Amino acid sequence: MPLYDPDKRPHKRVVPTQDGSTTLYSAEFDECYHSTRDGALNESLRKHVEPAFALQNGATRLTILDVCFGLGYNTLATLWYRMRLPRPPEVRILSPELDRELVASLEGFDYPEAFAPLRPVIAQIARTGRYEGDGIQIDVLFGDAREILETIDTSVDIVYQDPFSPKKNPLLWTREYFAQIRRIASERMILTTYSSATPVRMGMYENGFLLYEPPSAGVRPGTIAALRPLDLPPIDMELKKRRNPAAASLEDARFFQGDTGTEPR
Ligand SMILES: C[S@@+](CC[C@H](N)C(=O)[O-])C[C@H]1O[C@@H](n2cnc3c(N)ncnc32)[C@H](O)[C@@H]1O
Repeated sequence: MPLYDPDKRPHKRVVPTQDGSTTLYSAEFDECYHSTRDGALNESLRKHVEPAFALQNGATRLTILDVCFGLGYNTLATLWYRMRLPRPPEVRILSPELDRELVASLEGFDYPEAFAPLRPVIAQIARTGRYEGDGIQIDVLFGDAREILETIDTSVDIVYQDPFSPKKNPLLWTREYFAQIRRIASERMILTTYSSATPVRMGMYENGFLLYEPPSAGVRPGTIAALRPLDLPPIDMELKKRRNPAAASLEDARFFQGDTGTEPR
């Protein structure tokens, strides 16, 4: 099974989602970039941005790892949300992305009306892969996220863990991948993800992350991971292990057997 298929990469089609915002279907991963049921904008805000910022309340500076950039909804929703804060923190966003052509095409993408004030940011990112101004620094890091993570030498406070599903893109969900995230996580880091699969949670837990049920109003449940206690319902991984002794994290090596046993996006 090939890791990635650049020949299929250009093949995408526009898909409407339930909240009226638009996403894409990827032929390479045979999956949409967002949950069509939750809605692209709704998912970004409710699943990632709002919980992460609520848990980082009071921070004056935040470094965010947005895995991966895709259509940029998570990054753009972060800017949209930040504009509404009485004291917006400075944000630095690092976002790995394999698909340079996709990012270059985003000036023409049909974003929701809420992103209209962000048109200049979108244009700049599409043209150069970066944006800087008004307390914001965004760098799209082109290449394979696994290689890029090795080069990051700053600690990150928020991780939007939003790749294609563990079934379709397993190398961004393995125990070894989460070890890379652990290496760059600040002590106050918050990770948000839509996945609640046990193998994914095991991969985080085995790297020392504490796991919590997110406040998922209006979107499917997922997982929040942190290195510090949070005021959220905890997920008891020891209990899960006792109930299911066969439960195991995904491993890089296992991917090559094409057996991931986890849920679709
Ligand atoms: C589900 S989409 C991300 C959606 C995005 N967060 C958004 O809000 O629009 C997954 C993205 O991961 C990228 N990707 C897949 N594997 C990757 C890898 N190994 N390294 C970097 N990017 C990767 C794909 O090209 C795709 O754009």
